[in-house]
Amino acid sequence: MSSSTTKVRRPRSRWFLAAWLAPLSIVLLLAAVLAAQAIRDLPAVASFMVTYPGHSELPANAPVGLPAWLGWQHFFNAFFILLIIRTGWQVRNERRPPAYWTRRNAGRFRTKGAPQRISLTLWFHLSLDFLWALNGLIFIVLLFVTGQWMRVLPLSWDVFPNAISVAIQYLSLNWPTDNGWVNYNSLQLLSYATTIFIAAPLAILTGLRMSSAWPAKATRLNAIYPLPLARAIHFPVMLWFFFFTIIHVTLVLATGALRNLNHMFASQDNTTWFGFWIFAASLIVMIAAWFAATPLVLRAIAGLTGNVSR
Ligand code: HEM
Ligand code: HEM
Repeated sequence: MSSSTTKVRRPRSRWFLAAWLAPLSIVLLLAAVLAAQAIRDLPAVASFMVTYPGHSELPANAPVGLPAWLGWQHFFNAFFILLIIRTGWQVRNERRPPAYWTRRNAGRFRTKGAPQRISLTLWFHLSLDFLWALNGLIFIVLLFVTGQWMRVLPLSWDVFPNAISVAIQYLSLNWPTDNGWVNYNSLQLLSYATTIFIAAPLAILTGLRMSSAWPAKATRLNAIYPLPLARAIHFPVMLWFFFFTIIHVTLVLATGALRNLNHMFASQDNTTWFGFWIFAASLIVMIAAWFAATPLVLRAIAGLTGNVSR
């Protein structure tokens, strides 16, 4: 009886919380803006901002600009992550999956035990994960081959005071005038490095731990790295990707949209509309994929590699 009451109550209390969180965060943000404006003009803070203008120096041989391959990788990353977040959320909340998928146990991939049945939603999540991780691997290799890694990996401790300086500049509504074509500001640098070198590997390591590809019989390994630990990390990593993307795209559009979009989508540093139209086309592709991914279509694709059952 009591469990059914909690079930009814839970969604309502969640909405109640959400209804409070929105105005609360606006008030907190306003307070932070007022505080930043108040401290910005204090002599100590002003001299701190002169010492740390908001970015670290790049090595002399660092590449300038964003090459076309990087734009493509960035697009595929955004394309996959959108659907990965959606399917992850569905896996978490789904009571009755639209269908189940079982790997065909034949040919080169034949195993002794019977393959595990998974929901069609988890099958889609894992297929997207594979493509996303492959795209990420190519990205990392190209970063190091081309020297682009110098632009997204912090190379000096002054990145931290510089990031504080940038935060004060943003919050006091005196936005930094860095040029991302040459060098990212330190707050940008830290958030990109966290996404590429911490969040992405964490998502893969914890995701693999939860998947049936993980060796269930590796007792010692599994004692050090238990399943509940992976579960407890995987979800917050999704939240990082979600909130990073919202803030990232907001700032891209608010700090010189045309120029920024030209950087990433057209590999050029000017303010024509070219990059914007490529970005718009990429959005249409993402929206099309979102609506095309119906159970009917997914069932047909999943049927190519396994048995799909209701
Ligand atoms: C579709 C929405 C997105 C747009 C419009 C967008 C736009 C941009 C732009 C314009 C830049 C270059 C910034 C500059 O020149 O100052 C950039 C860089 C970057 N973005 Fe995005 N982005 C999007 C989605 C994402 C997502 C979903 C992620 C990751 C989850 C991401 C991760 C990054 C990273 C890591 C960089 C730095 C890349 C490098 O220099 O190697 N972006 N983005
Ligand atoms: C190679 C990378 C990844 C693998 C192998 C993977 C694997 C998995 C697996 C096996 C589950 C099901 C867990 C269960 O049975 O309860 C799952 C759930 C989930 N995944 Fe992933 N995943 C990966 C990347 C990601 C990424 C990048 C995100 C988000 C940005 C994400 C978000 C989620 C969410 C939100 C859930 C539901 C978690 C929950 O129920 O608490 N995953 N993932």
